[in-house]
Amino acid sequence: MKQVKLGLCGLGTVGGGVLNVLKRNQIDINARAGRELLITHVSARREYPHLDLNGIKISTNPMDVALDPDVDVLVELIGGTTLAKELVIAALKAGKHVVTANKALIAEHGNELFAIALEHQVSIAYEAAVAGGIPIIQVLREGLVANKIEWLAGIINGTGNFILTEMRDKGRDFEDVLREAQALGYAEADPTFDVEGIDAAHKLVILASIAFGMPLQFDKVYTEGISKIAPEDVVFAEELGYRIKHLGIARNRTNKGIEMRVHPTLIPESRLIANVNGVKNAVLVKCDALGANLYYGAGAGAEPTASAVISDIVDIGRSLDNEADAFVPALGFSSGKLCDFTILPIEEVECANYLRFSVLDRPGVLSHIATVFSDLGISIEALIQREPLEDQDHVPLIMLTAVTEEKRINKALAQIENQEFIRQQVVRIRVESLK
Ligand SMILES: NC(=O)c1ccc[n+]([C@@H]2O[C@H](COP(=O)([O-])OP(=O)(O)OC[C@H]3O[C@@H](n4cnc5c(N)ncnc54)[C@H](OP(=O)(O)O)[C@@H]3O)[C@@H](O)[C@H]2O)c1
Repeated sequence: MKQVKLGLCGLGTVGGGVLNVLKRNQIDINARAGRELLITHVSARREYPHLDLNGIKISTNPMDVALDPDVDVLVELIGGTTLAKELVIAALKAGKHVVTANKALIAEHGNELFAIALEHQVSIAYEAAVAGGIPIIQVLREGLVANKIEWLAGIINGTGNFILTEMRDKGRDFEDVLREAQALGYAEADPTFDVEGIDAAHKLVILASIAFGMPLQFDKVYTEGISKIAPEDVVFAEELGYRIKHLGIARNRTNKGIEMRVHPTLIPESRLIANVNGVKNAVLVKCDALGANLYYGAGAGAEPTASAVISDIVDIGRSLDNEADAFVPALGFSSGKLCDFTILPIEEVECANYLRFSVLDRPGVLSHIATVFSDLGISIEALIQREPLEDQDHVPLIMLTAVTEEKRINKALAQIENQEFIRQQVVRIRVESLK
């Protein structure tokens, strides 16, 4: 059996997982690839006593791995966008295929890297970069190739989903659950990337580019995190028949442009995706021929992510015998066939809204708010009003609006928020039916 020689940079969570899964399942994996997958060279700047590195060349400098003539495929599992980018570019230019799990690298520098891969007629594969072990890149690029994709919506950050699940199940507040997520190793010491939606935005832009056939435009994703979600909003959402999920949403608004947005979202509790809990990920895709289809599984972790990395390696291994097949367009569209769609600014987005007002408990307030909405042509679909607590003079007033252009809601809120009966900033969470 011919070999595929692999150079591995990064022996952390994912790198260790790749080593272990390749070793454990090597007979079946090789049979599927039609080649023997062999790790010939790894980079390590310290000891990894828990990993079996017998017979593998070890270098302290990862660039030695990227440039090793005895490596066919560079597997980049270091992370970040500086060294990782240098390694990937060096390997591509040296005519090596690249497999990476690095969403930040692909989202922010993918266009440049894909152009280099094209020029050198090699592949760059990144299945593990989105939703960990769920093979969603394959699904969009291969399985759904016959379809026009209308929209997709994903729970694509496990840490955020864990926090929202705990807030709902146990009535805990955001900060409290975040501390636990950090103790459990789900959230980093600096959780900004996860809870402020940057990690999800990295993944969303990759999904959207493959789904609609357009260059990656990370800077155009509207991004809002979950750190301002209050326990009472979780409770009111439930009362209205909804769950709050942190979604990445990409929608093709035919003839207008593409929406790309990451934000907390109320979704009807009856939807399957509303019941994706804990650290799990899921992506719901709506397309014309297949209709709605949902992909669910582990979005992170050593072996789930290794599963996706190895699937990319096997794909490349299979193509090596036939040079004509070796090059796979990175976004699934042939070169020159990507479209420069307009990315709609958030003001142009259309969706329903959950609004929580904290208002003085006195007559005329509700009718004032209702008049502002009605004057702007915004329908109110549901309303919850509460009695004030004994020691308080203000009450929560919750409204669900019909689907409306964002700029119209902004106008309404601007007119309401400066009224003296408003006690706190209005809470607004977008609502999606996902039908
Ligand atoms: N963890 C997951 O569940 C998951 C899921 C999907 C995608 N990913 C992506 O996979 C990639 C790797 O993540 P990970 O969780 O495996 O990270 P990790 O556990 O922190 O491992 C990173 C590895 O890279 C090495 N490394 C880091 N900086 C280096 C440098 N400057 N020079 C040489 N070696 C360096 C580290 O070595 P030291 O140990 O010496 O620091 C470590 O072996 C990231 O792009 C991440 O976004 C991760």
